[in-house]
Amino acid sequence: MNPDDEKRAGSAPGERSWTEGNRAHWEAQAAAHGTAGAASWGDGHAMELEVKNLLPHVPRGGRVLDAGCANGATTFRLLEGRPAAVRAFDRSPQMIEAARRAAVTADPGGVIGFFEADILDVPEPDATFDFACTNRVLINLPGWPAQRQAIQEIHRMLRPGGLYVLTEEFTGSLRNLNALRSLAGLPALTPRPFNRPLEEEALESFLSPLFATQEIARFMSPYFVATRFLRDLTLTGDEPPSYDSALHRAAAALPVTPRSGDFGGIKAFVLRKRS
Ligand SMILES: C[S@@+](CC[C@H](N)C(=O)[O-])C[C@H]1O[C@@H](n2cnc3c(N)ncnc32)[C@H](O)[C@@H]1O
Repeated sequence: MNPDDEKRAGSAPGERSWTEGNRAHWEAQAAAHGTAGAASWGDGHAMELEVKNLLPHVPRGGRVLDAGCANGATTFRLLEGRPAAVRAFDRSPQMIEAARRAAVTADPGGVIGFFEADILDVPEPDATFDFACTNRVLINLPGWPAQRQAIQEIHRMLRPGGLYVLTEEFTGSLRNLNALRSLAGLPALTPRPFNRPLEEEALESFLSPLFATQEIARFMSPYFVATRFLRDLTLTGDEPPSYDSALHRAAAALPVTPRSGDFGGIKAFVLRKRS
């Protein structure tokens, strides 16, 4: 191994094997689901909420970076914001292969360039993007040092004043959801073994010299209360496990208000790079 790789965040021996497990998980997802959105997450309604939150921020005519794009299911939706060019990468070769296959019909104009890369070291120049997003990607890194390194890398590639939407899973939101669940005697939900949710306080203090926070969008909160709390209260035991029950469909249409709370597990930081 190159000694420089040894020094990089996320390459301590325990972290290396964790990273290998994560890599194997996403390769298996790509093999199992091909070009379907389920390669990224079985919960298609939640993914649609992510897209709805992202789209208003996509700059029309701008240069967009989708970091950790998987098979491009979300990337293709970004085209609805009419960017001039999109660069989208993932570490998984099978995900990128699926994205390129899907692009034949989903992006006939060839606006998106898909490529393989590791978010810790992306072969793109400095300050060239107007907009970047990570959508459930940082949680796949082995811990906070690597997650910080990835954010620095996004910051490097954004132009001053460019926008970064960081949509990830958070420990505080999960804690709130579990507090609610515990009131009803429901067991705590735990992060998936291949994910490391971010910690809000550490993130906010790391971000503040780099970005101005425009908004923290807790857009998943009502949906998670309905599908990860209310649903468990109403299950009779005969229902097959599903991300697409009548309740999921209704929950996806619930409005998000200032009183919706922070129960979403997933939320988005909308960040503007400081000049
Ligand atoms: C939950 S999926 C991504 C979802 C996608 N952004 C979306 O919105 O559907 C997580 C992706 O992150 C990728 N990933 C994990 N670690 C990465 C890394 N270090 N560099 C680039 N991609 C990575 C995985 O291969 C996987 O495709």
